[in-house]
Amino acid sequence: MKAIGIVGSPRKSGNVDRLVQAVLDGAEEAGYQIMKYNLNEMSYSGCQACNYCKNHENCKLDDDLSELLEDLTAADAVVFGSPIYFYLFTGQFKLMEDRMYSFIDPGFNSRLAPGKKAVIVTSQGNPDLAAFEKAASDFGGILELLGFEVAEIIRMANGGAPDAVLERKDLLDKAKATGLAL
Ligand SMILES: Cc1cc2nc3c(=O)[nH]c(=O)nc-3n(C[C@H](O)[C@H](O)[C@H](O)COP(=O)(O)O)c2cc1C
Repeated sequence: MKAIGIVGSPRKSGNVDRLVQAVLDGAEEAGYQIMKYNLNEMSYSGCQACNYCKNHENCKLDDDLSELLEDLTAADAVVFGSPIYFYLFTGQFKLMEDRMYSFIDPGFNSRLAPGKKAVIVTSQGNPDLAAFEKAASDFGGILELLGFEVAEIIRMANGGAPDAVLERKDLLDKAKATGLAL
């Protein structure tokens, strides 16, 4: 069993990174082989709308996302993490998300095997947790369209400081428990 984590924050060891890692740690304890991608350290383009993927099984672009997209195809569980930037996920994350268009066939069905588990992790500066809930729920809808089962959404407020999550043992514990239950 394989679980991969995708971190859309430029802050290494920031709130999202630590929460994604906690889910992966739990998954590893549960027997998964784990792997984490920090999107900010990778070099890649956004979708070019060339529609190559509608006549072929894969994205035509050959860059640092190629391996990640292959890993997503093979993974049993994926932890998707991004901070909220101007109400949405980060640009780094959105470019990756658009490339997941290559998982959709010409009939608008997912090419991915059904039943992959997904966990969504977000962090925001705003102390009001209800604010920006839509970013995670909208992305969850896209994952369901692709055939994922969204197992958990972990959202953190008050995440202005990169290490704010260290004061949130409850969330770190929830993240670990989520990984253990995958
Ligand atoms: C460009 C930018 C835009 C942001 N926009 C928002 C926002 O719309 N709402 C919010 O609550 N926080 C916003 N934030 C704060 C981050 O979401 C917050 O600091 C988050 O916890 C960072 O997570 P990280 O430590 O994993 O990078 C923004 C931060 C940056 C740098």
